[in-house]
Amino acid sequence: MTAIADQTGTAVTAALRTIDANLAAFGDRYPGDTTENGRYSPRPANTGWTTSFWPGMLWLAHDLTGDDTYRKAAAAHVRGFTDRIDRGVDLDTHDLGFLYTLSCVTAWRRGRDPEAKRAALAAADHLLSRVLPSAGIIQAWGDLADPRQQGRTIVDSLMNTPLLFWASRTTGDPRYAAAARRHTAQLRDHILRPDDTTYHTFYWDPATGEPLRGETEQGSADESCWARGQAWGIYGFTLNHQYTGDPTLLAAAVRCADYFLAHLPADGVAHWDLIFSKDPATGEERDSSAAAIAVNGLLELAAAVPNRADRYRAEAGRILRSLIDGYSTLTRPDSNALLLHGVYDKPKDVGVDEGNLWGDYFYLEALTRATRPGWTHPW
Ligand code: GLY
Repeated sequence: MTAIADQTGTAVTAALRTIDANLAAFGDRYPGDTTENGRYSPRPANTGWTTSFWPGMLWLAHDLTGDDTYRKAAAAHVRGFTDRIDRGVDLDTHDLGFLYTLSCVTAWRRGRDPEAKRAALAAADHLLSRVLPSAGIIQAWGDLADPRQQGRTIVDSLMNTPLLFWASRTTGDPRYAAAARRHTAQLRDHILRPDDTTYHTFYWDPATGEPLRGETEQGSADESCWARGQAWGIYGFTLNHQYTGDPTLLAAAVRCADYFLAHLPADGVAHWDLIFSKDPATGEERDSSAAAIAVNGLLELAAAVPNRADRYRAEAGRILRSLIDGYSTLTRPDSNALLLHGVYDKPKDVGVDEGNLWGDYFYLEALTRATRPGWTHPW
């Protein structure tokens, strides 16, 4: 990563300029999930799964600069998240980990804000309430009584279990971590396929806990490999290994990583489904956010697998270079995103070939890793 320090320095400066403009434009509101024609509009309220990526970026901007403006702006968002959990707004989701780790756990770790701690623990309790006892999985979406959603979880949830591990460490109550371990083991055994690809979502029988079948929502087909899901697998299994020391989770992360790297087009930025890597002439879009997530996952994973570390670091550097050169808004001052050319949900035609808030966050996380040796992640 040292070799690209100059290039990342320029990219960091450009990213901070965009964040400054967005801070002035959005105030205490949140950018939407994705851009439209390259620009975010404010979302009306703190709903959905992506809002915490905005304070997450502000915390990163503080790490990159030491500028107190960013710290204060990030900390000010705690109120929006305490309000959300207290009023029960849009909480029927596994994404409470994304939401409360970057907003409130970070604010607690850095500033010891007791309201942030209270809200993050309440979010962890809510996440725990989504565990299906028969299978030990955390239901991904919807009301617990919804028959279409019962027994279903999702590869992205690997990024949400850190909230549970944090809750156990903070309270001394082992139930959160036990739930996270059981859930993650089910993903290792069923969401990760024998050929090292991942299902997007997977169902268990709510009554018996038997594993049933995989199904996609955002991938090309039930049996294909949605690129962002595979990237969540790289980073998510790696984080769960960090919390548990379980070598089978490390092996799962390596399997996700090796498959991902073997199915990239020439510039290293994945198509939105890895199935298209076999035929780049299809013209299918890239998902820059999958690439950005994978960079962070690979760098974190490299530290745990000495025999692959050089390769993972080299590949992460190559992908990040490609993102800076071909996908970032360095040369697009008309955009208020950091990264363009992502795909949110191609089957539903949402956010296709646009910027998205998590892509921006993970791109900035990757730039932070590249320019701040020794930086530690917030997950
Ligand atoms: N976690 C939702 C997504 O990756 O689209």
